[in-house]
Amino acid sequence: MKKITTVKIQEKKDSRKKITALALYDYHFAKIADQSEVDILLVGDSLGTTVLGYENTLKVTMEDMIRHTKAVKRGTKRALVAADMPFMSFQVSIERAVENAGRLIQEGGAEAVKLEGGEEMLDTIEAITEIGIPVIGHVGLTPQSIHAFGGYKVRGKKSYEAKRIVEDALAVAEAGAFCVVLEGIPLEVAKEITNRVKIPTIGIGAGQFCDGQIMVFHDLLGLSGDFKPKFVKQYVQLEDIILKAAESFVKEVEESKYPDESTSYSMDKGHLRPVKKKV
Ligand code: KIV
Repeated sequence: MKKITTVKIQEKKDSRKKITALALYDYHFAKIADQSEVDILLVGDSLGTTVLGYENTLKVTMEDMIRHTKAVKRGTKRALVAADMPFMSFQVSIERAVENAGRLIQEGGAEAVKLEGGEEMLDTIEAITEIGIPVIGHVGLTPQSIHAFGGYKVRGKKSYEAKRIVEDALAVAEAGAFCVVLEGIPLEVAKEITNRVKIPTIGIGAGQFCDGQIMVFHDLLGLSGDFKPKFVKQYVQLEDIILKAAESFVKEVEESKYPDESTSYSMDKGHLRPVKKKV
């Protein structure tokens, strides 16, 4: 088993091999996903909507991210583990950003951090990479700016916006990010970026021309309720399977079919002797 590193990720782009990544948040899923030989496991701040039940990612804290990064790291042997920098952990000042990136590495055990934003994050990305922390950029539909965008809408359909996204990706690469997530943009824009930057592009809702793809593990497994944007492909519908299992348990307990003898413990020998009552 060869550990995936940032160097390996770049080599994959250079040799035109596709890069794979999954966003997930816990030990058990990490352990399973790692066996699939996926390249990157990202502890995304989609944790907020997927696991914590928030309506968006804005309430996710550094403490949430560190706890879940530790769990994913414990389940991972091969993949590169990256952690998202949550809202307000990197926007206030460069010092705070460096400190929080350091916490995700030192306390969480991440091997890279991801942060949302383009040109405006240039100095921040530079400062974090300068101290030896690999950074994944994230441009296009950046969910932490949901209120500024007025919802989760595809970005870059108009050429002025597409141009801005291309410039953002170029800036992120220039600042030293080792790869960049392209989210929710037309495939033409993703293709242009992929051709122009040396670092790998990892798409989500950005079409087939990216150097790699990332998907939220819950989405791929059919565990996201009614949330099903166009780009999501459900490889299995686990929600139905889980519901059937829960219904079977409830039914069997109510009908006294579970537990039966095969699922109960018995004493080594004999029966329980009556206990003498103390007076
Ligand atoms: O938070 C997340 O899971 C992400 C990926 C989907 C790119 O940012």
